[in-house]
Amino acid sequence: MKALVLAGGSGTRLRPLTHTSAKQLVPVANKPILFYVLEGIADAGVTDVGVIVGETADEIREAVGDGSRFGISVTYLPQHQPLGLAHAVRIARDWLGEDDFVMYLGDNFLLGGINEQLEEFRTRRPAAQIMLTQVPDPSAFGVVTLDEAGRVTGLEEKPEFPKSDLALVGVYFFTAAVHDAVDAIKPSARGELEITDAIQWLLDQGLGIASSTVNGYWKDTGNATDMLEANRSVLDGLTPYCKGSVDDKSELVGRVVVEDGAVITRSRIMGPAVIGRSTRVEDSYIGPFTSVAEDCVVVDSEIEYSIVLAGAAIDGVRRIEASMIGRQAQVTPAPRTPQAHRLILGDHSKVQIRS
Ligand code: DAU
Repeated sequence: MKALVLAGGSGTRLRPLTHTSAKQLVPVANKPILFYVLEGIADAGVTDVGVIVGETADEIREAVGDGSRFGISVTYLPQHQPLGLAHAVRIARDWLGEDDFVMYLGDNFLLGGINEQLEEFRTRRPAAQIMLTQVPDPSAFGVVTLDEAGRVTGLEEKPEFPKSDLALVGVYFFTAAVHDAVDAIKPSARGELEITDAIQWLLDQGLGIASSTVNGYWKDTGNATDMLEANRSVLDGLTPYCKGSVDDKSELVGRVVVEDGAVITRSRIMGPAVIGRSTRVEDSYIGPFTSVAEDCVVVDSEIEYSIVLAGAAIDGVRRIEASMIGRQAQVTPAPRTPQAHRLILGDHSKVQIRS
């Protein structure tokens, strides 16, 4: 059994946050999403892991290395253009050989792991086994229909008029039969080789497709709202500790993690929240469900339900809510006069201003 992790593609929906960096490395509770994926795979006992990488290959390699810190062995498989999930399987064909494998999308966040599903797949060995969950907006996903007995009857990628509210979760189990399917299908209207079409092809050949429903928490972290929500769910289960320094004028309320070298002065931190390594918080309020990464500075500010990436500085701003602040970003108040906004915004920036 091998694992194929997809960490290529370009994160256009998280622009400008991932304009220059991999969306799979955006942190949830100060840990990249991709690390949760690799931990889940290691926990299921799969150690031979291929990682599909694209434009952001260098960054992914630097973060993941040879995989030994996760107890796995990683082989990098370059994909020169993000031509679809089934295209990624084609790229990995030689490395996969005739082995069974689990394919895991590197931006999918699944609390609860894949152990149960893997066990089920090993026992029954259908040509493909998929995971489903009910969603309010099925047209943003692969959509699956089942018959009354719960058997898969059809799959469609991002249909305009979905026939059910059951979305495909980004974890799939395959036998080597999938390679024939990948070779048989043609690119979709959006120009991608869809894994959804490959599974439909297997179904059309009369091969068995098994499915299970996700019991635990799942999010496709494709946009900022979903990232904040995933961050909330992880912080909800936080075990508090303090390795940094907190002065006697500061207060940590509830479940708060303060990492090594962080310095909290005259501030109030309401958990659940994480303050990263060597981050400085002064005269500030940090509210529930906030993750502040390493080497940040938060001075004279208020922030809540947000994710702050490494090296960001927030000074004199109240209050920030439901926000994602990118690496090395600087947030400061606008000068009082003149009453005009003075903006230096990067390409594709999104800014909301009270006018
Ligand atoms: O999250 C679940 C959904 O994931 C499923 O419901 C859909 O059926 C499935 O197609 C997929 O849809 P997305 O639009 O969310 O896929 P996305 O383009 O975001 O790619 C998912 C991951 O795979 C992401 O980490 C980037 C990576 N990727 C993507 C493509 C297209 C690659 O490594 N190579 C690729 O060619």
